[in-house]
Amino acid sequence: MDEILGGRRMRRNRRADWSRRLVRETTLTVNDLIWPIFLVEGSNVRQPVPSMPDVKRLSVDEAVREAEKAEALGIPVLALFPYTDDALRDATGSEALNSNNLVCRACREIKKLGLNIGLLTDVALDPYTSHGHDGLMDGETILNDETVDQLCRQALTQVDAGADIIGPSDMMDGRIGAIRSALDGAGMRDAQIMSYTAKYASAFYGPFRDAIGTNATLVGDKRTYQMDCANTDEAIREAELDIAEGADMIMVKPGLPYLDIVWRLKDTFRMPTYAYQVSGEYAMIHAAANNGWIDGERAMLESLMAFKRAGADGILTYFAPKVAGMLAKAK
Ligand code: PBG
Repeated sequence: MDEILGGRRMRRNRRADWSRRLVRETTLTVNDLIWPIFLVEGSNVRQPVPSMPDVKRLSVDEAVREAEKAEALGIPVLALFPYTDDALRDATGSEALNSNNLVCRACREIKKLGLNIGLLTDVALDPYTSHGHDGLMDGETILNDETVDQLCRQALTQVDAGADIIGPSDMMDGRIGAIRSALDGAGMRDAQIMSYTAKYASAFYGPFRDAIGTNATLVGDKRTYQMDCANTDEAIREAELDIAEGADMIMVKPGLPYLDIVWRLKDTFRMPTYAYQVSGEYAMIHAAANNGWIDGERAMLESLMAFKRAGADGILTYFAPKVAGMLAKAK
């Protein structure tokens, strides 16, 4: 064997924990985490989401408590998603523009505390429309430009309520540039934009749609605006446009099945690049762990490290509070 290896033994560096730590190339820290939470009407409400173990829909007062917890853990950003009352959903998603909607109220209440934490709000109409689509519709057709006008107003409403980062997740053409100029025109030059740049039409969003109630409302699918899972070059073109239009950060979604896209976008553009470990990925890890088929905690950490290895600067993950707690203990 010595003649074959000529002294080159890869396992030497792996022989002890201290040595493995010494040669470790990638790290996962609490600063890499963005924690998505779900909002619901009421007070003192913590409503379980059956397809997402440990995830709850929270009333605004409870969300405020979670924000304090997030800050204490050192999580840099919370992402807010609303479960809108059915009575408030309509064909145009008008509730998105209500400055007193759930997301805006949560932003205002959390901001009152002056925490060292950023708020990321989702710009898209699906939580508010009776048909569950992200845009305005004429029959079965999504109206791109009309939708973008409404998204601009939604973004202004959110920033006015205290949102720090706007996250357009709608995949309409031209929305990043339009939102940037609307924000700038309103004097909101400091509001950041994290574009859902490469968002694929995916089966992995199922549990999220339970959480915000759009599995019940969605008519048809989102393939005329979200990307085809077969495409890579198209993600590059989407990123080129978003960056030219003024995105501060770009994102790939879903996460683990699309690590090649994360890698390629980071490698090509060197932008702050994020991955969304979506609800279906979270649910799969929990489901397998609950069956005793995998070690859930190890699978969680391994999946998050994989995002970092692929070049992600951070991860939107429902595991955020759990992993932040574990990282704090490990210190
Ligand atoms: C909708 C939106 C979706 C997610 C975030 N924003 C779902 C969809 O496009 O239907 C999915 C997140 C997840 O699955 O965790 N604008």
